[in-house]
Amino acid sequence: MNGKVSRRHFLDWFLNTTAGTFFLSVFYPVARYLVPPKLEESAARTVTLPLKPQEVKPNSGQIFKFGSQPGILVRTQEGDLRAFTAICTHLACTVQYRPDLGHIWCACHNGHYDLTGKNIAGPPPRPLEPYTVNARGDTIVVSKAA
Ligand code: FES
Repeated sequence: MNGKVSRRHFLDWFLNTTAGTFFLSVFYPVARYLVPPKLEESAARTVTLPLKPQEVKPNSGQIFKFGSQPGILVRTQEGDLRAFTAICTHLACTVQYRPDLGHIWCACHNGHYDLTGKNIAGPPPRPLEPYTVNARGDTIVVSKAA
């Protein structure tokens, strides 16, 4: 009698924990999928680039790290330095500078941005976030707007 109770107790426990484990293994990944993690906002507000202003040629662009995010520094054909986030506003590919076009381009779906960061062609729905560029002596400092 005592062995039956014990066996029944064990079977109840086994079935309950197996069912619980099964539901957990199914619903936890579904819940994680449905509630995507928050994108980590870069905490950096200012970055000093490992470049000298004179090293950036007119009609060129370079990707740099702004915290954990990519940024793009562009020197226009007229010689102005400009910087933007390098994350395409369409599906978050990294944009690049196209010297042949004279503007910023996203290779993923042929998105185009002018040198103010405005989306001008292709699927990007919004402009690139502009940054402030200060070239002082031998340093280039890029800052996010306050
Ligand atoms: S991700 Fe840039 S155009 Fe689609």
